[in-house]
Amino acid sequence: MNILGISGSLRQASFNTALLLAAQELAPDGMNIAIHRLHDLPLFDQDVEEQGDPAPVTALKQAIDAADGLLLACPEYNGGITGVLKNAVDWASRIGKARKIAALSGKTVCIIGASPGATGTVRAQDQLRLILRRAGARTEPQGDVLVFQAHTKIIDGRLADARTREALGRHLQGFAVRLAATAP
Ligand code: FNR
Repeated sequence: MNILGISGSLRQASFNTALLLAAQELAPDGMNIAIHRLHDLPLFDQDVEEQGDPAPVTALKQAIDAADGLLLACPEYNGGITGVLKNAVDWASRIGKARKIAALSGKTVCIIGASPGATGTVRAQDQLRLILRRAGARTEPQGDVLVFQAHTKIIDGRLADARTREALGRHLQGFAVRLAATAP
C-alpha cells in the first residue's frame, strides 16, 4: 500500500512535516509513506496551465497517480488551509492538457494536522475536506489527529508525545483497513 504524504507547510521546522515523518515510523505493516515536497510547485496560473504543466506539476500529479491514497498534513493559517496546500490541490484538481481525469479524482485522502494553538487545525481540516470533495476526492471520516499545543509534543522535529503517537498509529491503521476495503 503506497501512500503519498504531503505537508501544507514549507517551513524547515514544520510541525506538520514532523507529523508526516512520525507517520512514516508509525505506519502499519504493508503501508509505505513517501513524502512529496511542494517547495518547487509554482503558483497556479491558468495561462501557464494552457501552455502545458510545468515539471513540478507533472511530478506532483504522477506521484498522486502512483499512490493508493494520500496523507495530507494540514496546518492552519487564519482559520483556514495554507496557500501552499490550496495551490497543490488546485493544480491536482485539474485535467490540464495531457490527461483525461484529474489526479485527485476518486483518490482517498486522510487528513492530519498540528498547531501550537488549542484546536489542532480543526478549522483548516474541515475546510480541506470540503475543498477535496469539491475536487472529486474521497475524504476519510473526521479524524482524531488534531495535534494541539504541538510545540509541547513535537520536540526537535520528532513527535515525542506517547498518546499522540498512539493516536496517529491507530488512525493510520484505520486508514489502511478502509483503503483495503475500497481497493479496486
Ligand atoms: C498561524 N498560526 C495559526 N494557528 C492556528 O492554530 N490557527 C490559526 O488560525 C493560525 N493562523 C496563522 C496565520 C499565519 C499567517 C501564520 C504564519 C501562522 C500558527 C501556526 O499554527 C503555526 O505557525 C504552525 O507552526 C504552522 O504549521 P507548521 O509550519 O509548524 O507546520
